Formats: sequence, structure tokens, C-alpha cells
Amino acid sequence: MRVTATTEAAASTAADTIVVGLVEGEGVPHDVEDGALQALVDAGEAKARPRALAVTHAAGKRWILVGLGSREKLDAEGIRLAAGVAHGRAKELGAKTLCWELPHKAKEHDPARAVVEGTLMAAYAFTAFKSKGDDASGGIEELVISDHHDHADAVARAVVVTEAVNAARDLQNTPANAMTPTALGERAQAVAAAHPETLSVEVVGREEIVARGMGAFAAVAQGTDEEPALITLRYEPAGGAVADSVPVLGFVGKGVTFDSGGISIKPGGGMADMKYDMTGGAAVVEALGAIAALGLPVRVIGVVGATENLLGPRAMKPGDVFTSAAGLTVQVDNTDAEGRLVLADCLHHAREQGAERLIDVATLTGAIMSALGRVYSGFWADDEAWAADVAGAAAEAGELIWRMPLHERYAELVKGSTADVANLSPPRTGASSTAAEFLHRFTGGVPWAHLDICGTAWDSGRAYAPKGGTGVMVRTLVALAERVSRDSD
Ligand code: BES
Ligand code: MN
Ligand code: ZN
Repeated sequence: MRVTATTEAAASTAADTIVVGLVEGEGVPHDVEDGALQALVDAGEAKARPRALAVTHAAGKRWILVGLGSREKLDAEGIRLAAGVAHGRAKELGAKTLCWELPHKAKEHDPARAVVEGTLMAAYAFTAFKSKGDDASGGIEELVISDHHDHADAVARAVVVTEAVNAARDLQNTPANAMTPTALGERAQAVAAAHPETLSVEVVGREEIVARGMGAFAAVAQGTDEEPALITLRYEPAGGAVADSVPVLGFVGKGVTFDSGGISIKPGGGMADMKYDMTGGAAVVEALGAIAALGLPVRVIGVVGATENLLGPRAMKPGDVFTSAAGLTVQVDNTDAEGRLVLADCLHHAREQGAERLIDVATLTGAIMSALGRVYSGFWADDEAWAADVAGAAAEAGELIWRMPLHERYAELVKGSTADVANLSPPRTGASSTAAEFLHRFTGGVPWAHLDICGTAWDSGRAYAPKGGTGVMVRTLVALAERVSRDSD
């Protein structure tokens, strides 16, 4: 979909369909001459209730009226959702060019960005494996953002970020037999190739993972014949335009392309969803691409540990002990707690590569879904300034994260009996926080944050997120890089 901004009135654009938002207790902002839109409101057909839809034809165009709710409760998320439902109706009605007349007096919610994000995310469909690509045709071809003010910059930025979200969704939705660790590595190479001046990538396989002493990562990978991939992306802005005070960011993603649980095998129900266990890795790869496309003045290292977790003849077994790259020995009490094994070595690797702030993104524990459902992602941090940056970035991006506790008493629960650390804590002892404390052992004192995205990685049920991968945390990671580069001006 092409996206443009104009300062022309919506009615005078070439769009076949115009979307107007309705705020409770406020009239239609710019009506057509005969007052057809307000008449629809007065008749009770068009409502300001959030996401209510009404359609009419006037002045040679189709008009979609969408509810935005009350002025007090209006926020960027409300606008994204309204954009999502309006897109759905417009598409159904065969619209080709859609023009949004931006809601007035909503500047603080950056409505141009919200409309672009909501529309492009809602328009996403995963059809790569359908033999008839019917969904791709018949869609909306152009989105026009109309306002008195010029929003070209906000629109351009939103397009870059939303395309990255949708690219991450593609990686998530691709079945595990196609989205192998090698394929994820190839995507990272393609993303880097698009920015040859500023983004470089290294992808290494099993031999090198073992040679680098990443025994925890290698242990997970030994259960499958599929070649694992340690993906390292490095973004250096052009011309070395970064102040020394700006910390090097390290983004670390869990890239388990299929998690069967290993020898501690998962029950069959829902196992197909374990193709999404690489969501954190997808977010890191695509966020780096967006950061490079935006040319942000900050250095970022992206590390993704990609492997399958299967149960082949060489698979790790409960009780096995491995030595991590950090030198700590790890006792595998449950082979299904594989994410923390992969991440332990990736966090260490990011630190060795020069990361001065760490954030990992991982579908780590089912328990976070019991705590936070599909609403919030779990969030841990061991440094208040870094925590504030991450929380601020997520809020700006409109992704919900909820701070969870770290505590020495959780750390005690993952002490090993035969090794330094165990990858399992006793039942019902705060599995998400004990997993976080496990990771914490590998961060070497570098300010660190951890996002557990099990509940938010797919099927979020949002109006702008079709069933399947959500591309969660791409927006937050990009906002985080923006924020750090801005703060350090
Ligand atoms: N990938 C899973 C976590 C997961 C569960 C993601 C459900 C999405 C939906 C992770 O590797 C895992 O299996 N975690 C175990 C840890 C346990 C063995 C301590 C879990 O949560 O059950
Ligand atoms: Mn697992
Ligand atoms: Zn997993």
C-alpha cells in the first residue's frame, strides 16, 4: 500500500473513500455541503462509540464514519484500532484509495502515525503458502493522510516501522519447516544488504557456536540436524555521528524456530504454535532494519540465537550439565526450559560485542500468560534509568509492558545442585521471575531489561492484528533506539 500525506482537504483528494472519526458530543468536523454526514449522526446511524462504523455516499465519494469514543479517553491506541476497523470495512467495500481526515485537537496522540500504523497493520495478510494469492489483489492501494498540517515526516517514519512489524509477522507466520534457523539468518543477511553502509551481519553455525564455547546454546541445538544460527547484526550510523555519551545498545532475541520441548516433550495440543518461539528474534532482526532505514544516531548490536528444540538421538537430557560461554555451568533439569539456555550465551555474546545496555525479547515462560494474559508483556530490569527508558519507549510505541520483580530469593530457586545454575525452579514458585533471574546471571552487571512476550506474540485479538504473529516489540525496540539517541543529544 502506498502511503502519502497531504494538506489538501480530504474531499478534494482523488480518494474514492474518506474516513472521518467521530468524538462523543462533538459534531462532524468538515461536513459535505448538504450536511449528509451530520445527518447520519443525528439519525443515530453513525455513532461515536469506539470503533462503531457507518457508511454513506455524498459528493461523489464514499464516507466511512468511525467512532473514536470520548475526548478524555482518546489515545493513540484508540486511533490505531479505529484505523484498523475502518480499513476492514473499506476493503470489504472495494475501496482503492482511502483518505483519512485526521481527528482534530489530537496532536499529542500523533494521529498521523497512529492511522498509518493501524491501517498498515490491519491490512497485513499472510498468504505466502496459499496457492491462489487472492488476498493480495483486491486490497486498498493507497492511503492518504489529510490534515491542515503537513505530516509527511511522521507518515514516512510510521511506514518504515510498520513495514518492519509486518516483516516480523511474516517470519513468525512462516511454518517451522521453512522458517529454519538458516532461513532466519538469510533474512538477517537480506535486511543488512539493504543498508550496506551502516548495517553488517555475521551468521555462524554449529561448529562456530561450539568453538566459541557457547555450550548452553549448543546443548539445545544438539537435538536437531537442522543447522543452528548465531546471528549478529551491527548498526553503525553513517559518518560516525554518535556522541560518546550514547551507550551501545544490545538487542537480544530468542530465535527458537520450533520448540517441541525436547526430551521433556510438550503435550500435543497447541504444539503447532511453537513455530512462534522465534518471535523475539524476528523482532530484533526487523527492528535493526527499521533503525538502519531511519538512520538513527545510535549504535545497536542485534544478537539472535536461532535453533530448533527437538529430541533427536543426540538431544540433551534432563540432568545433563553444560558450560556456558560466560563460564558458568548449567544443569538442564527440563529440556523445555531451552530459551534461557540459548539466551544465556547470546547475552554474554552481546556484551562481548560491546553492548552497554542489554534488552532481550523472548517467548520464555507460559507462566507469564497466567499472570498477564494476552494483554501485557512481562518486563524485568535491574537498572532504574534503563528501566525508565524501556518503559518510556514501550509507552510511546503503544505496546503494553508490566514491570515484574527480580529478587535474590528468586535467584536462589535456580541455584544448581550439581552445577552453578539450574534451568528449572520448583513448581509454582514464580516461573517467569525465576527464568528472569536465570538470565540475570549472564548479564555481567551491564544494565539489562527482559521482555517475556509469550502472551502477546500471536493472536492478540486487536483490530489491527489479524490472527497469527503480531510483530510485537518491533515498535518498542525502534522507539527505544530513538529515545536513547534523542536523550543523548
Ligand atoms: N517456548 C516456551 C514458552 C511458551 C509457552 C511460549 C507457551 C508460548 C506459549 C518455553 O521454551 C517453555 O517451554 N517454557 C517452559 C518453562 C518451564 C519448563 C520451566 C514453560 O513455560 O512451560
Ligand atoms: Mn520450551
Ligand atoms: Zn521455547
